[in-house]
Amino acid sequence: MSERVIPLFDQRLAAFKADIPAQKIAANGLLADTLGRPLRDLRISVTDRCNFRCAYCMPKEVFDKDYAYLPQNALLSFEEIALAARLFVAHGVRKLRLTGGEPLLRKNIEVLINMLAVIETRDGEPLDITLTTNGSLLHKKAQLLKDAGLKRLTVSLDGLDDAVFKKMNDVGYPVADVLAGIEAAQAVGFQSIKVNMVVQRGTNDAQILPMARHFKGTGVTLRFIEYMDVGATNGWRMDEVLPSREVMQLIHAELPLIQLDTSAPGETAERWGYAGADGKHDKAQGEIGLISSVTQAFCGDCNRARLSTDGKLYLCLFATQGHDLRSLIRGGASDDDILSAIGHIWQKRDDRYSQLRSEMPADTSTGARKVEMSYIGG
Ligand code: GTP
Ligand code: 5AD
Ligand code: SF4
Ligand code: SF4
Repeated sequence: MSERVIPLFDQRLAAFKADIPAQKIAANGLLADTLGRPLRDLRISVTDRCNFRCAYCMPKEVFDKDYAYLPQNALLSFEEIALAARLFVAHGVRKLRLTGGEPLLRKNIEVLINMLAVIETRDGEPLDITLTTNGSLLHKKAQLLKDAGLKRLTVSLDGLDDAVFKKMNDVGYPVADVLAGIEAAQAVGFQSIKVNMVVQRGTNDAQILPMARHFKGTGVTLRFIEYMDVGATNGWRMDEVLPSREVMQLIHAELPLIQLDTSAPGETAERWGYAGADGKHDKAQGEIGLISSVTQAFCGDCNRARLSTDGKLYLCLFATQGHDLRSLIRGGASDDDILSAIGHIWQKRDDRYSQLRSEMPADTSTGARKVEMSYIGG
């Protein structure tokens, strides 16, 4: 049994002040950090709450009935989120992902999607707007989300065996209801649906093949995620990580795969397509994705920023502190000043946690107090 590390203080309260630099930073889409990485992807956490208690994310021992979630007035309002999104897009962001916690728990989330869907990229293209959900409210909300202008969806599902899944979500939630949510999303016309499965050795590795068989040929792209040492409460251990390479070999032995080209710079997943009888990728059978943030870090072209539920800008999933944009927004700073502040923060960015971790000896995590994924979003 692994030891859980309980944070000694609330990391969410610590924040860097977002300074407005003396010299204005123009929003011209050319912003780059110290490693030359552009800003293209903004992930927005709309709630720090979730109705699941996955042990790798919100373990029950920590996220219990006494846990102090953010009070309502700490949350960015939809208007504040839309304002922030508009400014990030002016700096070159093209993709918005709504996350949580569980984003569908945020009341009237479709209203926010509606507000975001009218924003265009710098080139006048529609934004790529997507959302990560545990699927529990999807059958109820699929139509509303589609009508509001959501383009894509990612559903988290860690196995097809009810006992395994119920144990992993730790609230006894059945697989069938998540599958019903995915079907509802397909029925209302979502063309691009992904399923994310976090693989934990010894917990759900026996679910890899059943999941691959189930989703092959359905139009849903299944992605396997290496269990990460994110946050400070999940008691992560390297021996629970199943390297993506092994996942690929396991599937390939039964369902032949061939590697596909990346579809976008800075992409998290390596793509593998199911091969047809001719040995070439059979598009009708679809593809899988491997997200190897532990064994093959992808920090080199990481173009992702994260906006926490209470409006702090985080430069890395593993950051220990965010930059307080909410104070600027609520303090009445002008758009130009907030743009300059964001530009200034991004220009100083040097985060590459996964890469540095992989350069450390195996079996160690840094021990630094990182923020929880439920708060800054996946
Ligand atoms: P698509 O645009 O659909 O390809 O999505 P994505 O892969 O950018 O986002 P998604 O939220 O589906 O990412 C899948 C998983 O990859 C997340 O749940 C995280 O576990 C992991 N992940 C996403 N972004 C990062 C990142 O910047 N760093 C690390 N280390 N892991 C990440
Ligand atoms: N390791 C890997 N992925 C994680 N997620 C949450 N916690 C972890 C972790 N420790 C991802 C899962 C989930 C999404 C919301 O965040 O993909 O589906
Ligand atoms: Fe909730 Fe997703 Fe975290 Fe599980 S992984 S507790 S579903 S936010
Ligand atoms: Fe980006 Fe940090 Fe993830 Fe590396 S660890 S890919 S820098 S978010």
